[in-house]
Amino acid sequence: METFFLRGLLLCWQCLVIPVWGLDFYTAAVYEHPSVLQLNSTILSTRSEALEIMRENLNIYQEQVNAASKQGVKIIVFPENGIHGFHFSRPALFPYLEPIPDPNVVQWNPCLHPTVYNDTEVLHQLSCMARSGSMYLIANMGERQTCEQSDPKCPPDGRYHFNTNVVFDAEGTLTAKYQKWNLFFEVAYDTPKTVQHVIFNTPFAGRFGIFTCFDILFYEPAVSLIENYGVKQIIFPTAWMNLLPLLSAIEFHQAFATAFGINLFAANQHHPEYNMTGSGIYTPLDFPYYYNSESSEGKLLVAKVPIITSTQNHSLQQSKVTNYLEASLLQKEGGKQEQTGPLESSDPGYVFHNVMMFDNYTFISLTGLKGNLQVCSNTLCCHVAYERSSYTDSNLYALGAYDGLHTVDGTYYIQVCALVKCAGSSYDTCGQSVTTASDIIDFRLWGNFSTTHIYPEILADGMKIYRADTRGWTNNNYYMTKKGMSAGLVTAAFYGRWYEKD
Ligand SMILES: *[C@@H]1O[C@H](CO)[C@@H](O)[C@H](O)[C@H]1NC(C)=O
Ligand SMILES: *[C@@H]1O[C@H](CO)[C@@H](O)[C@H](O)[C@H]1NC(C)=O
Ligand SMILES: *[C@@H]1O[C@H](CO)[C@@H](O)[C@H](O)[C@H]1NC(C)=O
Ligand SMILES: *[C@@H]1O[C@H](CO)[C@@H](O)[C@H](O)[C@H]1NC(C)=O
Ligand SMILES: *[C@@H]1O[C@H](CO)[C@@H](O)[C@H](O)[C@H]1NC(C)=O
Ligand SMILES: *[C@@H]1O[C@H](CO)[C@@H](O)[C@H](O)[C@H]1NC(C)=O
Repeated sequence: METFFLRGLLLCWQCLVIPVWGLDFYTAAVYEHPSVLQLNSTILSTRSEALEIMRENLNIYQEQVNAASKQGVKIIVFPENGIHGFHFSRPALFPYLEPIPDPNVVQWNPCLHPTVYNDTEVLHQLSCMARSGSMYLIANMGERQTCEQSDPKCPPDGRYHFNTNVVFDAEGTLTAKYQKWNLFFEVAYDTPKTVQHVIFNTPFAGRFGIFTCFDILFYEPAVSLIENYGVKQIIFPTAWMNLLPLLSAIEFHQAFATAFGINLFAANQHHPEYNMTGSGIYTPLDFPYYYNSESSEGKLLVAKVPIITSTQNHSLQQSKVTNYLEASLLQKEGGKQEQTGPLESSDPGYVFHNVMMFDNYTFISLTGLKGNLQVCSNTLCCHVAYERSSYTDSNLYALGAYDGLHTVDGTYYIQVCALVKCAGSSYDTCGQSVTTASDIIDFRLWGNFSTTHIYPEILADGMKIYRADTRGWTNNNYYMTKKGMSAGLVTAAFYGRWYEKD
């Protein structure tokens, strides 16, 4: 008992990084929005038709700001494409776009000075909304910027289209804008000339960084903001299409926040018909989230958020610190298999290949009630030591390893160790999308990763997410442990990104 207590205490120091006492909090909100969409991607609307659709969305935003204001919210985040929608062709998008002046160059409050620029009705309404609710407001919208043909990058139609986040302060002044760097096959938009590291300051919680959706999978600007600019809070508008087993919104976004020990404010679209649901306010202390694939309603998620003041880069580095108690635990669980009786599997598991999320994984099946398995791919070897509540052949699980370049829907290098529940009782179903599970499994998962950028995920029955009890580096292995979950395990994985090899 004493040992466990002591270990818990030490791990607290290690994992939380910041002391819990003396923390200040503020109230924040993200809104998961069932956006009103123009579904015909080729229809050429007039500006006033485009404004009609956008006003429907903006009016819903206003209702959320009113509700949030009553709860003392200081900052609210709306999703990517939440006002104007998605799936446009380039000409069809045009009437939805507005010119957005550079807040670094001009100070402009659209609510107080609506006629300074033409075609800025959306900016005007957003600015008045922030003012009315007396809160910071972040929304995503379409931006246009005319360019000269002397500019070699200028598109043939003489203008840039950017996927842009705008930030208004509590008075309605346009404080910052960010143009999305990693477009996700968005043919109607252009990539800005240079990557932007946008940081804005607030009186209630200091600095926030900002990026959009697909950006979260790349070093620039996402990881760079955190590692090179010391940002501890990230605003993250997204229109995220869930992809199981590893890239469902809540699962991956919480893993990203956990890996760095930051506050991440993820606002997603709510369109279950496109697999878009899953928003959250992921903090080092708590991670309230919303996932609902049944209802068509939106959701205002409001939470108290701790102010993280430390400006040091800590989380990835500090988690390398280990203590001798952890090391001894690893030896016990991950060392030579103990002969503890008939429930221990003597079957080494069946090794096979399967494609999971477009990558060719090497898998090994779990057998028996407990065991200790290893599977490798290139230079990555993944291990699991497990103990499960029940074992039947129909509840098939497998440990998968993948170390390679991912090339579908984007090109990026990943190293993954994933313990997955298979969709059926045959090996070829391992790696398919599953959301339910009944087996309670205690596990320790580890792998000898070549990258330090490892995002730890635990997904359980009914799209519930959990955090590991312990995690960190020991002997060149990154590990996590989890015991006593109250729901069946669907997936436990390390989604590693080896950015240098992209
Ligand atoms: C989309 O709009 C175009 C142009 O108005 C029209 O020709 C086409 O039939 C529409 N498509 C659908 C699916 O409604
Ligand atoms: C706004 O549009 C009107 C009519 O096209 C034009 O006369 C005016 O110069 C424009 N104002 C600005 C600030 O661009
Ligand atoms: C964080 O670490 C990186 C490299 O490890 C370093 O270049 C950067 O200056 C550090 N940033 C802060 C804010 O300490
Ligand atoms: C949503 O996800 C399910 C399960 O992965 C998949 O079968 C379906 O095709 C997806 N729907 C869309 C619109 O991508
Ligand atoms: C996966 O890799 C294995 C081993 O290299 C190979 O035998 C198998 O054909 C591959 N499967 C696919 C679908 O590419
Ligand atoms: C991981 O472990 C395997 C097996 O011991 C070894 O062959 C491989 O080189 C290791 N990878 C790294 C990056 O150390």
